Amino acid sequence: MNPVTAIAHPNIALIKYWGNRDHTLRLPSNGSISMTLAGLETQTTVQFDSHLSADELFINGQKASKRASDRVSDLLNHIRSLANTHHLARVTSSSNFAIAAGIASSSAAFAALSVAAAQAAGLDLDTKTLSRIARRGSGSACRSLYGAFVEWFVGTDDADSFSQPLSIGKDWELMDLIALVDQSEKPYGSTRGHKIAESSPLQTARVSDTPRRLALCRAAIKDKDFELLCQIVELDSNLMHSVMQTSTPALLYWTPETVRIMQAVKSWQSEKLEVCYTIDAGPNVHCLCTPASANEVEHRLKKLPGVQEVILCAQGNGAHLL
Ligand code: PMV
Repeated sequence: MNPVTAIAHPNIALIKYWGNRDHTLRLPSNGSISMTLAGLETQTTVQFDSHLSADELFINGQKASKRASDRVSDLLNHIRSLANTHHLARVTSSSNFAIAAGIASSSAAFAALSVAAAQAAGLDLDTKTLSRIARRGSGSACRSLYGAFVEWFVGTDDADSFSQPLSIGKDWELMDLIALVDQSEKPYGSTRGHKIAESSPLQTARVSDTPRRLALCRAAIKDKDFELLCQIVELDSNLMHSVMQTSTPALLYWTPETVRIMQAVKSWQSEKLEVCYTIDAGPNVHCLCTPASANEVEHRLKKLPGVQEVILCAQGNGAHLL
């Protein structure tokens, strides 16, 4: 069978997903909204081969760990069952950014894998179905099927928990400046993190308030209201990290450099610079800003001690075949 290659970009959640109702299907505890990021990308090639005796996975030229391979095989098993085939697959994946460091590498990885594997297996699926498939690999991956602003519906089951592009705010060109302070693999990944979210006494309050935050985020995007977006994005990130920090075990992803950037962003806001922060499951800080403030924010971030690199991302496209 012919090899098929797909490309996907990671996304940054403006309203975050943390915790699952169903860990196997990755049905989320709450809905979320994200922005897909250009510049960073994962390219994945899948080839089903009747001669293979096991699935093979290579990431950035190296044979992948058993844990990563098993996770990919789980997704391939789902695709094999849909395509009614038993052929095993060779998967090669490469990314142009640090993986597992809290810059949402799994969102790009599983979006690219879903698109490439479905096509390689001979399936002709619509994007909504591909989004549901990608969700099983990594929840946030279901949002990388689309470009620009995307909403992932909490849904009630496998059939109705998928992503869709937000029809509003299509021409609002926000930027994400990612301040990298640590690119090593995080000690406690998000798959394990979702499983302990419920152990925080704050998770119930965070989840039940999510429809309100989603509505405010949609309103900010619709009205291109950057100040409102900042308020809701920072609140949402702080709520998620409060849950992380109060779960058992407690997860503290922030380092002193992370906090230094958060504090710098707060002081720049008081000077009316259009920027706000949001942080995923890692120490690196995503600084959202308008194109007008991007150069100044980049310049200031680079001067902060501990900032190793600043990656500039405009809005990216959805996952697609090469
Ligand atoms: O998709 P996962 O399992 O890697 O979880 C993503 C979790 C966060 O990045 C912290 C939030 C989000 O919505 O992307």
